[in-house]
Amino acid sequence: MKQRVFSGARPTGRQHLGNYLGAIRNYVALQNEYDCIYSVVDIHALTSLEDTKQLQSNIYEMMLDWLAAGLDPKKCILFVQSHVPEVMELFTLLGMVTPLSWLLRVPTFKDKAKLQPHNVNYGLVGYPVLMTADIVLYKAEAIPVGEDQLPHLELAREIVRRFNNMFGDTFPEPLAKLTAFPMVVGLDGKDKMSKQLGNHIELALTPEETLERVKTAVTDPARRYRRDPGHPEVCNVYRLQQYFNELKTSGIAEKCRQAEIGCVDCKELLAEAINKDLAPFRERRQALAAMPEYVTKVLADGAARAGVIARKTLVEVKERMGLD
Ligand code: TYM
Repeated sequence: MKQRVFSGARPTGRQHLGNYLGAIRNYVALQNEYDCIYSVVDIHALTSLEDTKQLQSNIYEMMLDWLAAGLDPKKCILFVQSHVPEVMELFTLLGMVTPLSWLLRVPTFKDKAKLQPHNVNYGLVGYPVLMTADIVLYKAEAIPVGEDQLPHLELAREIVRRFNNMFGDTFPEPLAKLTAFPMVVGLDGKDKMSKQLGNHIELALTPEETLERVKTAVTDPARRYRRDPGHPEVCNVYRLQQYFNELKTSGIAEKCRQAEIGCVDCKELLAEAINKDLAPFRERRQALAAMPEYVTKVLADGAARAGVIARKTLVEVKERMGLD
């Protein structure tokens, strides 16, 4: 039997280069070898979204990105979290075996509380429990995510161990699967790329918009004038070049060190390379956008398939916990 893979992403709208390099590229690669389930986690999104008017269009935009990036509904299950409501029941049950102290020490909870001090809701504290429910509802073993999700996965493993100890072996311990770019830094050159921080580049931008965004990127702070030699190892634009440009042939690092190219030239090369890499994605996305009923059908079909697995697990969990 193929190993089961699960991952999810919040429907914050169009996906950015961080999502793409840190996670989506792995989702696509894994669908050929594993039994993959990918979820648009709309309930998780509610922990930060105060205005939910955008939620449905965000889900749609994100699905366009996923499908255009190469996720194939014939090879994997794609569904919206709330369309398989069993996850909320399992979330409540797992909440009973999760000590509050574990949740309060999660670094992402502390970060979020700082980012949205006016909205430190109960759901935010329980965020990793809901994430664990997502994973174990499908008994997934491998979880493709970016580095920022590692504390959540560590907690998921602890909850699984505790559950298995209390009620007998039920769930496998999930393991993270990272890409070669598990932490993409944003255009500000310091924080992780994220929509909430506004330091991101969306995949679905036009080539011109991409160039405009890249031009705003912070580079090596020691390089104030074009004649100053640069330090590519500390430069975030260079980090992105490492993915998008053929560094061996372009020799960008050397030219930067010798001040043979300036930051503006370097950014133009990067934007060009991103646009080249994403051209087929953008073409597919445009074609998909012309058939919204296809996206609806993919999600309905995905929820039906995921629901079958979810209901089976929930029956087993309730039996083990003495509820039936
Ligand atoms: P989310 O929506 O923040 O991000 C989706 C995926 O993109 C990765 N990612 C990044 N990787 C590298 N560099 C970045 N700058 C960057 N920004 C985002 C994330 O690591 C993630 O893999 N809690 C999750 C969603 C979730 C989930 C799950 C994931 C809910 N249930 C179960 C796995 C399994 C989240 O908010 O991802």
